[in-house]
Amino acid sequence: MMSQQAIELPAPSRSSSVSLEETLAQRRSVRSFSDTPLTLAEIGQLLWAAQGISEPRRGLRTAPSAGATYPLEIDVVIGIAEGIAAGVYRYTPGEHALRPLDQERLQDDQRHALAQAGLNQSPLHSAPVTFAISAVHARTAARYGDRATRYVDMEVGHAAQNLSLQAVALGLGSVVIGAFNDREVASVLGLSSGESPLYLIPVGTPR
Ligand SMILES: Cc1cc2nc3c(=O)[nH]c(=O)nc-3n(C[C@H](O)[C@H](O)[C@H](O)COP(=O)(O)O)c2cc1C
Repeated sequence: MMSQQAIELPAPSRSSSVSLEETLAQRRSVRSFSDTPLTLAEIGQLLWAAQGISEPRRGLRTAPSAGATYPLEIDVVIGIAEGIAAGVYRYTPGEHALRPLDQERLQDDQRHALAQAGLNQSPLHSAPVTFAISAVHARTAARYGDRATRYVDMEVGHAAQNLSLQAVALGLGSVVIGAFNDREVASVLGLSSGESPLYLIPVGTPR
């Protein structure tokens, strides 16, 4: 269940002084972060890199999607950030906005609960913000049947890589986390029954 009020994200930047080659050369898994908050602009830029709309006329996104079925959803577990309170928010690509989840318990710092669900991995504790990518397989299965499983797995890799490289371009670090308890992560994020968590990506200033 979502509440109505959306938090608009600043318009994403479409250029920077950091080359793609530099982000490729510099990307490394970062597992220890300082407590420097992320800004709303950084959060918006990272979300746009992962799943933002790059061609509004046709609603196409920064990452490819099998048959443009767009099975991915991104929730942001915010601990410390400038311009937005701690809590769990869902990215809505069409409006480039964040919507807070309704449940009261999710409008608080959920990083500790997420870290518990993530086998207590330290980056989940220390990162100011963690991006959680989940999938609604049914969207892709409606068109591709059994092949949807592999298509969705491929697609989350595209989105995660975009986000990881964008983090480097912003002077931030990240790590992609696949080891966690699915049921517990789904509960922390307040996912609905058709949504499966695939990746957790803590992001912050490398310590
Ligand atoms: C599918 C997948 C799952 C991963 N899961 C975890 C994880 O649960 N915890 C973690 O610390 N790193 C995880 N990693 C990151 C890898 O450990 C890391 O990419 C690898 O050691 C290579 O280091 P690099 O990313 O710095 O190049 C995962 C990577 C992939 C591709």
